[in-house]
Formats: sequence, structure tokens, C-alpha cells
Amino acid sequence: MRLKILIFVLLLSFFSYGFEPIKPIPLSVPYNKEKAELGKLLFHDPILSRDKTVSCASCHDLYTKWGTDHRNVSIGVEGKKGNVNAPSVYNSYFNFRLFWNGRAKNLKEQAKGPLHNPVEMDMDKKTIEKRLKKIPVYKQLFKRIYGDIRYEYVLDAIAEFEKALITPNSKFDKYLRCKEEGNKDCKKILTKKELEGYITFKKIGCISCHNGINVGGNSFQKLGVIFPYRWKPYYPDRYQITHKEEDKNVYRVPSLRNIECTYPYFHDGSVKTLREALKKMSYHNLGFELSDEEIDKIEAFLKTLTGKLPEIIRKDYENTKK
Ligand code: HEC
Ligand code: HEC
Repeated sequence: MRLKILIFVLLLSFFSYGFEPIKPIPLSVPYNKEKAELGKLLFHDPILSRDKTVSCASCHDLYTKWGTDHRNVSIGVEGKKGNVNAPSVYNSYFNFRLFWNGRAKNLKEQAKGPLHNPVEMDMDKKTIEKRLKKIPVYKQLFKRIYGDIRYEYVLDAIAEFEKALITPNSKFDKYLRCKEEGNKDCKKILTKKELEGYITFKKIGCISCHNGINVGGNSFQKLGVIFPYRWKPYYPDRYQITHKEEDKNVYRVPSLRNIECTYPYFHDGSVKTLREALKKMSYHNLGFELSDEEIDKIEAFLKTLTGKLPEIIRKDYENTKK
């Protein structure tokens, strides 16, 4: 027992002396360029939905909405309403599981979800293959990369594209990288308010759930640890998988990367502004109300987590065709 306490205290002091619980997004991630470019076409193609009106990009707009749709809940084929807020696809490669309740282990497995969901794209394997086989550009690309058009390859190409959807080089990552390199004057990169916001974020305990590369995305936690949040049976929480009472309102902690751009917030999309999200978080999960000054500071810090748009969507598709 004593040993455990000792280890705990040692760990705690390790945390307080310069160890950074948030890691910068790598500047690049290795991926197969040809597959990713094919995945980019598929990601934007509505023929992958039953009534040919919805593509992945309809709910994950990469150019103007930071990989989300800015709706409370998404709208799929025939205008059908979904039951949960769409998270960003940016940096989802770094999440330990995918979906609000983590039911998919990796991006390939995740992509099956929306393709077959009756209120999203409502497709089946055979129809996907049949439709793609009729389009010359797909015939040519799939033949060159995979040898044939198959459902598994569609998932593979989309997942490869999503690997490339990372947003490195945020102001905060520049600060972290500066410190990693052992430089002394890194504090200059952030304003006083932003730095104080980060210190507050750590001090009051936000960091215990929002840490790692994605400032979240690496554990399951309850919304309402201290003061309960209303529970509704149709939201995809851990309870839907485990049917254990304690898993009601337990979600994979969302990433806070690019958080100022991915509103509205929470699984139900009920929270419109970042300030309101911070108030709700500190009340429900830490058990106290933040002062306006604390909110200002934390908000300023969170805004430094906005990165640069991924390389792969910045350049025109034409440039990559040789
Ligand atoms: C009709 C809107 C809609 C469409 C179309 C759609 N998505 Fe989603 N996406 C969502 C919603 C809503 C969620 C959250 C669902 C959940 O957690 O239960 C989600 C979750 C995700 C996630 C998980 C992110 C994370 O951090 O957990 C990824 C990745 C993703 N979608 C990629 C795709 C891809 C690839 C396609 C196309 C094959 C696609 N989506 C099509 C709405 C959509
Ligand atoms: C006990 C774990 C825990 C703590 C502590 C915690 N959070 Fe969260 N946070 C979560 C979970 C879980 C969610 C998802 C809530 C939902 O949508 O159901 C979340 C959601 C959020 C969101 C909305 C993200 C989105 O995309 O919808 C923000 C912003 C946020 N937290 C910031 C903070 C801040 C700031 C603090 C400190 C005041 C904090 N959190 C403390 C677990 C935690």
C-alpha cells in the first residue's frame, strides 16, 4: 500500500515538473498517396449513398466546416435525421477508438458504419461494387492500385485518406515543440492569457480527461461525474454496448483539437458556444462554476489548438495526377 502511495506521489510530481501531458500532432503521418487520393474521391462521392445525395463530406465538410457539418445532429439520405452530433474526421486517426461510444477499433471498421446506416448512406456491399464498376475513372484507379474493385478496398482507400487528415502546426503545438527542443524562451509563443489558460486547464483538472495528442480521444469518461447530465436512451453511449447502469452517459472523451471551429458541442449538439461548453464541463464533471476570467483564459488557450488544414486537401487533385 505504502509503495503504491509513493509511486502515486512520484508520478504526481513528475507531472508538475515540466512534463507535458499534451503531445504535438506529428508534422506528417506515413500513408500511401495513391490510395489516399482514391479515398479522397470516394469520400466526396454521393454515389456511395442509396439516393445518391449524400457523401461522407456532406456530414464531414473538410473545406469550410473543419470536418463536421455544424448541425446539432446530421442529416442523411432522403433528409432523414440522425441521432447524434457528427465529430470531426480531422485527427481521428489518433483516437484510440472511433465513434462517441468507441464501437469501431479503426478507421476501416468505422467506415462501414455510415455506409450501411439506414439514416446515413443506406448502402450494401454489392450495390457499392456494382456502381463503382460502371465508372471508368474508378475502374482504372482500383485496377492500378488494388487489381480489382471490392468493398474491402473501398474501406481501405477511405481509411488511407483519413490518415492524411491531420492538422499539425497549431500555435500550441509550436509552443510544445519549442519546449521539446529544449529552448528557453518558448513562453513568448503564447500570450500571457493563453498560457494562464493552459495552466488553469491543468490545475483545475480538465487535463485528467483531455490529454495526449488529441487533447482527448484516449479514454471513456462520464458526462456528469459530479452533477448528473440528463440521459436519453437513444444516444450512442457505452451503455448501448455494455448495458451496465454505470455506463450511462459514458462517452469516448472528444478531442479538443480545432475545437473553436467544430461547434455545436456535446454528443447531442445542444451546446452552441465554446464558453457554454466550458461552463457545463466544469459544473457537471468537476463540480464547480468557473469565473468569467477563468473562462476567458481557458477559451483563449483552447483557441491555440487550431491547426493548419491538411496538406492533401490544400492541393488540387489535378496536381497529383501524373
Ligand atoms: C449523415 C451524416 C454522415 C455521413 C454521410 C457520414 N458520417 Fe461520419 N459521422 C457522422 C456521425 C453522426 C458520427 C458519430 C456517430 C456515432 O458516434 O455514433 C460520425 C462519426 C464518424 C467518424 C468517427 C470520428 C471519431 O472521432 O470518433 C469518422 C472517422 C467518420 N464519421 C467518417 C465518415 C466516413 C468515412 C463517411 C463516409 C463513408 C462518413 N463518416 C459518412 C455523420 C456522418
Ligand atoms: C471526467 C472527465 C472530464 C473532465 C474532467 C473534463 N471533461 Fe470535457 N469532456 C468529457 C467528456 C466525456 C465529454 C463529452 C461530453 C458529451 O458530449 O457527452 C467532454 C466534452 C468537452 C467539450 C466539448 C467537445 C465537443 O466536441 O463536443 C469541451 C469543449 C470540453 N469537454 C472541455 C473541457 C474543459 C475546459 C474541462 C475543464 C473545465 C473539461 N472538459 C473537463 C470529459 C471530461
